[in-house]
Amino acid sequence: MSAVSIEKDQPCVVSKEEYQVMIKPHGSDKLNPLYVIDDAKRAALLKEAESLPSIVVSSAAAANAVMMGAGYFNPLTGYMNKADSLSVADKMVTTKGLFWPVPIVNVVKDAAAIQGKKRIALRDPNVDGNPILAIMDVEAIETFSDDEMKMMTQKIFRTEDPEHPGVAAFSSVGKTCLSGPIQVLSYSYFQSEFPETYRTAYEIREDMTKMGWNKVVAFQTRNPMHRAHEELCRMAYEQLKADGILVHMLLGKLKKGDIPADVRDACIRIMVEKYFAPNSVLITGYGFDMLYAGPREAVLHAVFRQNTGCTHLIVGRDHAGVGDYYGPFDAQTIFHEEVPKGALDIEIFEADHTAWSKKLNRVVMMRDVPDHTKDDFVLLSGTKVRAMLSAGESLPEEFSRPEVAKVLMGYYQSLDEKPEIKLHGHATGA
Ligand code: ADX
Repeated sequence: MSAVSIEKDQPCVVSKEEYQVMIKPHGSDKLNPLYVIDDAKRAALLKEAESLPSIVVSSAAAANAVMMGAGYFNPLTGYMNKADSLSVADKMVTTKGLFWPVPIVNVVKDAAAIQGKKRIALRDPNVDGNPILAIMDVEAIETFSDDEMKMMTQKIFRTEDPEHPGVAAFSSVGKTCLSGPIQVLSYSYFQSEFPETYRTAYEIREDMTKMGWNKVVAFQTRNPMHRAHEELCRMAYEQLKADGILVHMLLGKLKKGDIPADVRDACIRIMVEKYFAPNSVLITGYGFDMLYAGPREAVLHAVFRQNTGCTHLIVGRDHAGVGDYYGPFDAQTIFHEEVPKGALDIEIFEADHTAWSKKLNRVVMMRDVPDHTKDDFVLLSGTKVRAMLSAGESLPEEFSRPEVAKVLMGYYQSLDEKPEIKLHGHATGA
């Protein structure tokens, strides 16, 4: 266990007053996770679920259930219907006026098995035997037209290119939209595979309260943390005079070629333990598949970090991007141009491109060193890093801490098939 993590079983010593000081969840005063916490109630619902008509949902729909269960998608109470999905995709607001950046849907190819049923069980596609994930009260079964699918795809991803991994996943699951409230009965594979790292939004709120943190900056990541990421966190922490940093890594599915969560987790733990002050970082993860939706995903990231109690989210270069579908800072611009004032309480810490300066011998933000030219920085693309590690070449210390580089080298050297080097990856198993 990391020196900076918190004993999960410790009783929560939070007074109501202290809890109130934290930033409010999105859309409500109190967090309303949809996971059924009471063991007896959950066992009874699981029993009931076994006798209900059931469907195996898509990985994306399962991840949506896990996120709603954990309180990350507060204040949603279930999957969106067609009208809400279209409205959210188009204008980032539900029909009832809730600000929300991405449709949270349960879309299937074929709903024949549950046609006319009011209460159904949702089964997990990502765990052997497809165990029960949730119970859903079906309010509507509707179909998106091709034009509606097109509009949503374009709005969410800013492209309809089927080579975009998020577009590929979104367009492969079907067009039939099942909506209605859910009760979540499992955290899928996240709790069992990542017991040290997987945390719900309400657990993070509790952990941060125990730490006495109020101003907290979140760092979203789907990568191992190199020097630039490390310094980005440090800069945000110092400039904001924050109480702590929430490193919050994605634990769900990624496109082919991305680094698996256990490898990233090991890199991050080693780096934080060695290079950050004790009790300044919480290392955590959440169960969601990467959308690669750039700007829209950055806004979703902000929503669910507010739900964890964070006051700030770092948004740097090419946040949640892939290939060259988005401009390097589109994920920052959207907060100025498309997120209405007051829609969110969380604030964005906007980071410029960050890299090692050969002139200053430290990591800098490019906007802080206008005298530098490109050659004054140590810049390595992800593609180059993968190629080096696959060839057994060590990474420069200016780019990656040696302990992190060692873990990554071990991973790449263990691969039978060397990673594909592509700009536009393909979605896997979405
Ligand atoms: S992401 O898909 O989760 O955004 P990644 O883990 O690579 O990818 O990035 C995590 C965060 O660090 C994002 O906010 C991203 O914009 C930022 N970031 C990563 N590398 C840099 C860099 N060199 N300069 C500035 N920001 C960066």
